[in-house]
Amino acid sequence: MVFLALGIEGSANKIGVGIVNGDGEILANPRRTHIAPPGSGFLPKETADHHRAHILDLISEALSQAQVTLSNISLICYTKGPGMALPLSVGALVARTLSQLYNIPIIGVNHCVGHIEMGRLVTKAENPTILYVSGGNSQVIAYNESRYRIFGETLDIAVGNCLDRFARIINISNDPAPGYNIEQLAKQGKNLIELPYVVKGMDVSFSGMLTFIESIAKNHSQEDLCFSLQETAFAMLVETAERAMAHCNSNEVLIVGGVGCNLRLQEMVKDMLKDRNGKLHAMDDRYCIDNGAMIAYTGMLQYQHGDRMELIDCTFTQRFRTDEVLVTWRS
Ligand SMILES: *[C@@H]1O[C@H](CO)[C@@H](O)[C@H](O)[C@H]1NC(C)=O
Ligand SMILES: *[C@@H]1O[C@H](CO)[C@@H](O)[C@H](O)[C@H]1NC(C)=O
Ligand SMILES: *[C@@H]1O[C@H](CO)[C@@H](O)[C@H](O)[C@H]1NC(C)=O
Ligand SMILES: *[C@@H]1O[C@H](CO)[C@@H](O)[C@H](O)[C@H]1NC(C)=O
Repeated sequence: MVFLALGIEGSANKIGVGIVNGDGEILANPRRTHIAPPGSGFLPKETADHHRAHILDLISEALSQAQVTLSNISLICYTKGPGMALPLSVGALVARTLSQLYNIPIIGVNHCVGHIEMGRLVTKAENPTILYVSGGNSQVIAYNESRYRIFGETLDIAVGNCLDRFARIINISNDPAPGYNIEQLAKQGKNLIELPYVVKGMDVSFSGMLTFIESIAKNHSQEDLCFSLQETAFAMLVETAERAMAHCNSNEVLIVGGVGCNLRLQEMVKDMLKDRNGKLHAMDDRYCIDNGAMIAYTGMLQYQHGDRMELIDCTFTQRFRTDEVLVTWRS
C-alpha cells in the first residue's frame, strides 16, 4: 500500500488541497483564491465563507486527480498557523472531521515551514539561505541545529502586505493577485522615485515607505510608482539576504512565499548571487503561492519522523513562529 498524505491549506485568501505520496511526488494540488474588489483587501469572514464554499469540492477534485479515495489516505495534514483565525478554522475543522470519519491520523503543520519544505522538495536545494516573502511574512531564515532560525525579518508589515495595500491605494485589480498587477505595471516604469529605504541590521521595515508613497501617489504615474516600490522594497530584502548568507557561510538562496514568484525579485537576487558565485532556487506560482501539497508533504515528514497529534490538540493559532518547530527530519 502506498503512503498518501492529504494536506489542507487555508491560512489566508487561498484554499488548497494537495495529495503527496511517500516519495514526495505531488499527485494533486488544486486551489481557489478569494479575490476582493479593487480598493479593498480580503476580510476574515468573507475569506472563511469562500473557503467553506470550496473546500469539499477541492477535496473531491484532488482525490479524483490522484485517482484515489479517502480510504486510501494515510495521513490528514492541515495548517495550524500562522494566519487569519477564521480562514484557518475552516481547514482545521474539515481536517478533524475527515480524521474522525475515516479514522486517519492527523497532523498540524506550520505554514512557514510548509513553504520551506516545499521549496526544498521542488528545487532540490539542500541547505539554502531562505528568503520567505509573502502577504503575511518577510523573513530571512537558515537552518541551524534542528530549527529554522530567523536571522532577519520585517519590523512592521510584510512585503506582500505592503504591495497589497499599495494596490488598494492606487485602486488596481486584485485579480489574479495585487502583486502580479504591480509587477506588470512596474515593467513600464521609467523613473525611479526615491523612497524611504529602511534596513536595520538584518531587519527591514516597510510601513514608512508605504505611508510615503501614499502621500506622493497622485504626483506620479502608476508605472513609476510600481517600479520604484518594487526596486526599493526588493533591494532591502536582497541586502538582508546577502548579509545572512555571509553570516551562515552559504552561497545558495531559496525564495519561498507568494512574492517569491515575482520575476524582478528573482532577477535582483540572481544579480546579487552572481558576485558571490552563488545559486538561486526559485519556483513558479504553483508551488510558491500557498497550496495544499506543501502542507501534505511537510506533515508527512513530521509523521515519518515520529510526530503524532491527538485530536484534542488539533487546534489552530494566528501566531506560530517558524523557529518554534523542532525540525526532526533534518540532521
Ligand atoms: C485504494 O484503495 C483501493 C481499495 O481499498 C485499492 O484497491 C487501491 O489499490 C488503493 N489505491 C492506492 C493507490 O493505494
Ligand atoms: C476603482 O476601480 C474600479 C474598477 O476597477 C472602479 O469601479 C472604482 O470606481 C474605482 N474606485 C476609485 C476610488 O477610483
Ligand atoms: C504634488 O503635486 C501637487 C500639484 O499637483 C503639488 O501641490 C504638491 O506639492 C506635489 N507634492 C509633492 C510631494 O511633490
Ligand atoms: C547555530 O547555533 C549554535 C548554537 O545555538 C550557535 O553557536 C551557532 O553560532 C549557530 N550558527 C549560526 C550560523 O548562526
